[in-house]
Amino acid sequence: MTKKLKKILFALIMTISLAACSSAPEEKETQPNEEPQVTEQTESDGNVLVAYFSWSGNTKEMAEYIVEQTGGDVLEIEPLNPYPEDYGETGDIAKVERDENQRPEIANLPASIDEYDSIFIGYPIWWHTAPMIIGTFLENYDLADKDVYPFTQSASMDTEQFENSMDFIRETAKGATVHDGLFVSSSNTDGIQDYLNANGFTK
Ligand SMILES: Cc1cc2nc3c(=O)[nH]c(=O)nc-3n(C[C@H](O)[C@H](O)[C@H](O)COP(=O)(O)O)c2cc1C
Repeated sequence: MTKKLKKILFALIMTISLAACSSAPEEKETQPNEEPQVTEQTESDGNVLVAYFSWSGNTKEMAEYIVEQTGGDVLEIEPLNPYPEDYGETGDIAKVERDENQRPEIANLPASIDEYDSIFIGYPIWWHTAPMIIGTFLENYDLADKDVYPFTQSASMDTEQFENSMDFIRETAKGATVHDGLFVSSSNTDGIQDYLNANGFTK
């Protein structure tokens, strides 16, 4: 082989190997798209509904965090006759409702909640228990085979009042498995997260 031919052959080999190298990154760039997409899911089985009643926004804040973490659907329970903005007036109405074990009507009651397996039910403590409208909601459905997770908070954070509210939930959520409830202040996201983790709602 002549020197000239050797040079040409060397140049040819270099050109081919450089071309092969320069095509490699292109192949790599396409790889991420080929990998399966990982989507965030809860470990819990089935669909989650986060239903809550909130007069001044604290339970709403908890509900929003739970929705964010579980990916559940949300329902804010709205009274057919809205409570007054005045604290004292609302207090008077709520006291009569509790004393008479009333079931205040709900304006936006879903026809069915069959599609949900886990139901978070949120409320503030009113007059040492749950607001009666929570009973209206729970008693409207056949909750057999459903898991119910109560969550609540109050001004005093009195655990006896919380326990009263849990008794009320157990009485009105007929057929459901009522899990231990969550009783932490609304801004305590660590406490809410611990509860979600403990009940298998970790992302
Ligand atoms: C009608 C009414 C009754 C209440 N009763 C109690 C009570 O018995 N014990 C208590 O600690 N707080 C009581 N509170 C205070 C609420 O539990 C507290 O303000 C709570 O954070 C309100 O939640 P919300 O913002 O979701 O409505 C009552 C508030 C109202 C309006």
